[in-house]
Amino acid sequence: MSKKLTKFSSLAITTALWLAAIPGGAQQVSSRSQQTAAPKVAQRQTSQFAQDPWWKHAVIYEIYPRSFQDSNGDGVGDINGIASRLDYLHDLGIGAIWITPMYPSPLVDFGYDVADYAAIDPLYGTLEDFDHLMAEAKKRNIRVIMDLVPNHTSDQHPWFKESRSSRTNSKRDWYIWRDGKAPGQPPNNWQSWFGHSAWQFDSATNQYYYHHFYTEQPDLNWRNPEVRKAMYDAMRFWLDRGVAGFRLDAVSRLFEDPNLHDDPILPGKNAYGDPNIAHKYTDNLPEIHEVLREMRRLVDAYPGNPVLISEADEPNIAELTKMYGRKNDEIQLPMDFQIADVNKLSAPDFRKLFDEVDRNAAHGHPHFFFSNHDQPRQWDRYGDGVHNDQIAKLMAALLLTTRATPLMYYGEEIGMRTTPPVRKEDVQDPIGEIGWPEEKGRDGERTPMQWDNTKDAGFSSADHPWLPIPPSAAEYNVSVESSDPHSILSFYKRLLALRRSEPALRNGTYAALDRDDAHVFAYLRKNPAKGDSILVALNMSAEPRTVKLDLSALGLKANSAKTLVAAPQIGNGSVSFTHFVIPPFGVFVGSVH
Ligand code: GLC
Repeated sequence: MSKKLTKFSSLAITTALWLAAIPGGAQQVSSRSQQTAAPKVAQRQTSQFAQDPWWKHAVIYEIYPRSFQDSNGDGVGDINGIASRLDYLHDLGIGAIWITPMYPSPLVDFGYDVADYAAIDPLYGTLEDFDHLMAEAKKRNIRVIMDLVPNHTSDQHPWFKESRSSRTNSKRDWYIWRDGKAPGQPPNNWQSWFGHSAWQFDSATNQYYYHHFYTEQPDLNWRNPEVRKAMYDAMRFWLDRGVAGFRLDAVSRLFEDPNLHDDPILPGKNAYGDPNIAHKYTDNLPEIHEVLREMRRLVDAYPGNPVLISEADEPNIAELTKMYGRKNDEIQLPMDFQIADVNKLSAPDFRKLFDEVDRNAAHGHPHFFFSNHDQPRQWDRYGDGVHNDQIAKLMAALLLTTRATPLMYYGEEIGMRTTPPVRKEDVQDPIGEIGWPEEKGRDGERTPMQWDNTKDAGFSSADHPWLPIPPSAAEYNVSVESSDPHSILSFYKRLLALRRSEPALRNGTYAALDRDDAHVFAYLRKNPAKGDSILVALNMSAEPRTVKLDLSALGLKANSAKTLVAAPQIGNGSVSFTHFVIPPFGVFVGSVH
């Protein structure tokens, strides 16, 4: 969970045939990428896929299961609902889905409070439903990534119930229990990410337990080998069922300073009225790397290259690089929170951060995202209030044309917006209750997927879905946007198809162009083999901008590019570098050789 981004902290399908099927789709794509080229592209693609692990090329799509599709009319999304939408994901060109937790849970933190790591919560279905989803996903070449929550359990997990039962229980040491500093005083000043002290007094045994998140989410003690074994058994349980890897929740918080040093106090107060602190003694302790290596060895023992994705909001490139491991033996895809946290359309900021991660000392593969279930959606975060739909397309291009493995959040492809609750009594996410009105919680970015114009936007048949359908659903939904060639959805589809058909977009090197331009972020994805390279130019300002590009330093003589995808229309099938004007927030993706 991001330090800067979250409100509570600081306040595949081949291109050609498919494109031809979209009204207007072919207009923006050169003839080179149409029908005649398709079979060759597909062959090349197969051989490259054979060499690289799948996770370097797949586009990953995050599903918040409560909100994707409800199949049984109870107002909450479920596994059979996800299975019923696999064709949509396949048509979109998604290679893997990451599903946030579906384990049995009291749902205090909507599943991130796990009560059993080897089962499915009945709200979402059964293990049989899960196996069915796996089988159906496999038929469509879509992999399934589980969300693993290793840092903490629910206070209703049998492990914790045992642990709290007595000081001498065999599971006492599975959690972090300490005496208070003095009567009525917690052991130190550590704070919960969700407000107030991170220590909860338990009168049954007169000790405090540590919880980095909600009181109902006690932290596991990763210094205890039995805890490690139990969590690794849980990983094997899902790998044995065929999952393609894990997104590791809050993994930088697995260890705490055993000497309980107080965290440094910073100026000011947070949204909960607590003094700001630096989580120096509970975040990113070096011990996490041994665990990450153990987890990596575990997944590497399975066929099919399972992936580990880390949720760790590393503060800079040096820390992010460490997540790959000294011998590239830890996380394959560390989420890049630095890039997700730019939070403004700034060509210089993106250029700097893209450069840094592209050249990371571990030669690790970058992994980008802009939205998820913890932070306001990108449509509003990057939107200027006037050109939001155009900016949504620009953000799509930024995500889908770089070297990184892209991670999309459900609904970004249709321009879903953040719709926070208006009244405190409607809040579902407890942090919205604790922090109201400054902190309204995360409901706004978790509203139901907008499928069509029918009841509940096609999400459910319930009278009251668990979160209300945003008013924007009438205009922004899959059905309406599928028939509009200029919609955000059609734009995403074109880019996703291009990413699959263009070798340079998958394997090309990355080099920023015109490094001094304050408004246009332009880069070249250079094809390492023969064939066209891809030029991307994004105008991050509300004014038309003229760019002068010179690719000679990159070994290319080209002084023009053929349009592959552009929004709005730029040039007439091609652009000349001597007169290249990009409209406000315009996107140009073209081929050069
Ligand atoms: C992660 C999840 C977030 C959850 C927290 C505690 O940051 O993304 O939704 O509340 O961990 O598990």
